[in-house]
Amino acid sequence: MSRLSDRDEAITMSNDRSPVTVIGLGLMGKALAAAFLKGSHSTTVWNRSAGKADDLVDLGAVRAETISEAVSASKVVVVCLSTYEVMDELLAPLGNELSGRVLINLTNGTPDDARKTAKWAIDCGVDYLDGAIMAVPQMIGASDALLFYGGQQDLFQAHEPLLKLLGGNTTYLSDDPGVPMLYNLALLTILYGTGEGMLHAQAMLSTANISATQFQPYAAAWFNNVILPLFSSLDAAREVDEGDYATEVSNINTNRLALGHIIKASEELDISAKWLAPNKALLDQMVNDGYGEDSPFRAFETISPVRRNKRS
Ligand SMILES: NC(=O)c1ccc[n+]([C@@H]2O[C@H](COP(=O)([O-])OP(=O)(O)OC[C@H]3O[C@@H](n4cnc5c(N)ncnc54)[C@H](OP(=O)(O)O)[C@@H]3O)[C@@H](O)[C@H]2O)c1
Repeated sequence: MSRLSDRDEAITMSNDRSPVTVIGLGLMGKALAAAFLKGSHSTTVWNRSAGKADDLVDLGAVRAETISEAVSASKVVVVCLSTYEVMDELLAPLGNELSGRVLINLTNGTPDDARKTAKWAIDCGVDYLDGAIMAVPQMIGASDALLFYGGQQDLFQAHEPLLKLLGGNTTYLSDDPGVPMLYNLALLTILYGTGEGMLHAQAMLSTANISATQFQPYAAAWFNNVILPLFSSLDAAREVDEGDYATEVSNINTNRLALGHIIKASEELDISAKWLAPNKALLDQMVNDGYGEDSPFRAFETISPVRRNKRS
């Protein structure tokens, strides 16, 4: 079948307003179901704590009494639960009922979880897409809400109009179902690393009675003028891809000293700097190895297993 006819079919399906089931009505699942209802899809919902469906029922959703009834109600079943373990527990007994249906899993876990679930789905005769939501519930349905998908590309294309109801920036990444979760966790790593740094910074300022609010304009300027240009430029990404760490900006020697001062000052201020110690150890190692004049991005050579394996 040509790509064009696949797309035509998807558009027809979307116009059909085909029924969809949502399993898991936590903060995110509720937002997903509400977006399908807004898109005029007949939406069946199920949640362990049945009361969480009340608002959706008021909006027109059908409350399934059992998870089996929920699965049977629609060809497309969207799952959004706390973990893959919970999902396995709920869906494993339903293999037969799921057979011939489309399972779209938006639960967070690891790439390995996603790949194992995809294999289980294939074994049960279930069409499977694994997705990752890079948005908070309040953003679901917005044109800039980013959601990643992986698995069978034709399946994604057939259901793209439905999936776009959840976010305009709906992106198919790979036929490897583990890849969306890899992107998701990579982006979350940046978030949590930055978050830890921000809280550490605010804690340092608090020791001189400077509030987070007072600090914020300077933190914002630092983000916008230094951190964002540094980390969002393609040049920085190319440096890592090409493994060329020559720098005219700021080298490992300079950054190692700065990090040493942060750790020493934090200890003087009674703020735990344990999370910075591995970073400092990496910089120390690179200086010992004779790379002090290179950019600190050289640490990628040690962190990435792909680069380590290439050298060994
Ligand atoms: N919230 C966000 O901003 C956000 C953003 C991106 C991705 N996500 C992902 O979306 C998924 C859901 O997140 P959420 O914010 O909706 O979490 P949540 O509000 O804590 O909801 C968790 C859901 O899992 C269900 N659940 C947990 N343990 C269960 C069990 N043993 N048996 C049956 N159901 C069980 C809960 O049912 P009960 O209601 O009965 O407890 C609820 O439906 C997670 O994987 C999360 O990482 C969330």
